[in-house]
Order: sequence, then structure tokens, then C-alpha cells
Amino acid sequence: MADFKVVGVIGAGQMGSGIAQLAAVSGSDVFLLDKDAGALHTAKASISNSIQRFVSKGQLSKEVGIKAVARVNYTSNLEDLRSADIVIEAIVESEDVKKKLFAELDKIVKASAILASNTSSISITRLATATKRPQQVIGMHFMNPPPVMKLVEIIRGADTSDETFNATKTLAERFGKTVVCSRDYSGFIVNRILMPMINEAFHALYTGVATKEDIDAGMKLGTNQPMGPLELADFIGLDVCLSILKVLHAGLGDSKYAPCPLLVQYVDAGRVGRKQGIGVYSYHKSAKQSAR
Ligand code: NAI
Repeated sequence: MADFKVVGVIGAGQMGSGIAQLAAVSGSDVFLLDKDAGALHTAKASISNSIQRFVSKGQLSKEVGIKAVARVNYTSNLEDLRSADIVIEAIVESEDVKKKLFAELDKIVKASAILASNTSSISITRLATATKRPQQVIGMHFMNPPPVMKLVEIIRGADTSDETFNATKTLAERFGKTVVCSRDYSGFIVNRILMPMINEAFHALYTGVATKEDIDAGMKLGTNQPMGPLELADFIGLDVCLSILKVLHAGLGDSKYAPCPLLVQYVDAGRVGRKQGIGVYSYHKSAKQSAR
């Protein structure tokens, strides 16, 4: 079984940077790749700050923290992933773009390497068809933020081998995560249940049932969730939520998954959430305020 000496991560956004951090802290050499140099720059600062926070809270020794920061290499060149034992993809939630990347990766990385996707909802079986190694393609779905959240959902495609599943599960456990296993249907377990709730919160706002603040407070205090659904949508990214709902709608064929027009309009307006500074709420000022 692979010992994952070298881990490649593609996409240095909120998820990829967190996954790279987990891999480095667990002892792997990491190549974090993004096509955007600015994203790599931001990821470098974010990984270093996050590791520093774990050290100052006493959750990580200073020595391990320093070594982990030094283990992450930043690149825009796919060839640098040649030596990876596993590549975990965390780029934009688009089947076409992911397939294109998987086809390229398949030609570059060594024959024994596992190709994992952090996709929130896209079929692993279909991503695997872009490669000549479908038995080594698997879904490894981290929760946001990866260094903090305890769950990894593992999704087996139609052809994923037991060896690939077992090795991926071992890696997730090395990262300190608890694994749940989902069959390969749109949205898997977590987003199949979470996204309809977020979409319904948008419908409640759209149809004027209540203010955004009351919708979030109602769900936080009424159902004991740490964040309200609209606040959580801003945290995940409204663009990511919209993409997942489209996949659920197309894949499961039920109109209940059709994205709320208000969510579509926010994304059209570029209000994609916390990462943009504005979504349902505005994050530009110190206090969280209404974006309207
Ligand atoms: P993000 O927008 O923060 O980051 C995506 C990064 O990928 C960007 O830096 C972009 O430059 C890069 N990228 C896009 N296409 C690329 C390509 N062809 N080659 C190299 N780099 C490329 O997105 P985020 O939120 O990190 O999501 C990434 C993936 O993780 C998506 O599939 C999403 O569905 C999934 N995911 C997201 C969660 C969330 O809460 N945001 C939770 C779990 C999974």
C-alpha cells in the first residue's frame, strides 16, 4: 500500500490550501498547484498562519509546525506532480474542467498514483472515464475548513478498487479524520442533505418569509446548528452552492433541487460570499451587515 511520501494538491483555494496543510502536517512532501499565482501567494500565507494558530493553541508542536510549512512546495507546473503518490484535486466545481485536468494528470503522474477529487457533488465514475486508471480514481471530500472539520466523505466510483479505497481511507485517518463512505450519486451524503436546506433558506428570503438575520437565527437556535444556512452558504461560497445544486438537479432529476432564483442572481452579480467580501451578507466592514 502506498505510504504517500509525496502528495499533490491541485487548486490552492480555500479547500486545496487546507488539504495541503493536512498532508504537510502528517509528514508528506506536498506540491500545491494552482494556475493562478495570486492564489498560490494567498495559500502560502494562509497555511503559515493556520499552522501558527495550531502551534499557539498547543495543538501542534513548534517543531512539527516549522517542518510542515517547509514541506509545501508551490507550483503552476503540472510536471512537478510527477512523483506524487496521490493527487487530490480541488479546483472549480465543473465536470468539464475537472475531466480535462484528470486526462492531463493521467498522462503525467506515475502509474501507481491515486487520483482523488474533492468534488462536492460530481460523479466520480464519470471523472474516472477521463483517465486510463479508473480503478485508481476516488472521491475524497473534505469539509470546510479541512484542517478543522473532522469528516472526510469517501466516494467509490463504479470501478474504484478495494486497494485504492483502503489506501485513501488510511490517508484520511492519518490526517486525523473520521471517514464515511458514500455511493456515487450526485451530492453524496452531506451535500444531498445540506444543499436543499440552504436552497430552501434562499427561497424563504426570496419570498419574504423573514429577514436573512431571522432565518439564520431561527435555524441556529431552533435546530442547534453552529451557523445559519445563509451564513454557511456565504462561507462555502455561493458559486460553489449553485454549482452543487445544478449537479443535484441534473443528476437526480427532481425539481426540488432547482436553484432558487435569488441564489442565481447573487452569483450573477458576483456576490459569491465571504471569499469575495460580499454575499448574502457584507464582510467589508468589521461588523457583519446586510448586503442590501
Ligand atoms: P476556490 O474557488 O476557493 O478555489 C479553487 C482554486 O482552483 C482557485 O484558486 C483556482 O485558481 C484554481 N483552479 C481552477 N481551475 C484550475 C485548473 N484547471 N488548474 C489549476 N487550478 C485551477 O474553491 P474551493 O471552495 O476551494 O472549492 C474547490 C473544490 O472543492 C470544488 O470542487 C468544491 O466543490 C469543493 N469543495 C468546496 C467546499 C467549500 O466549502 N467551499 C467544501 C468541500 C468541497
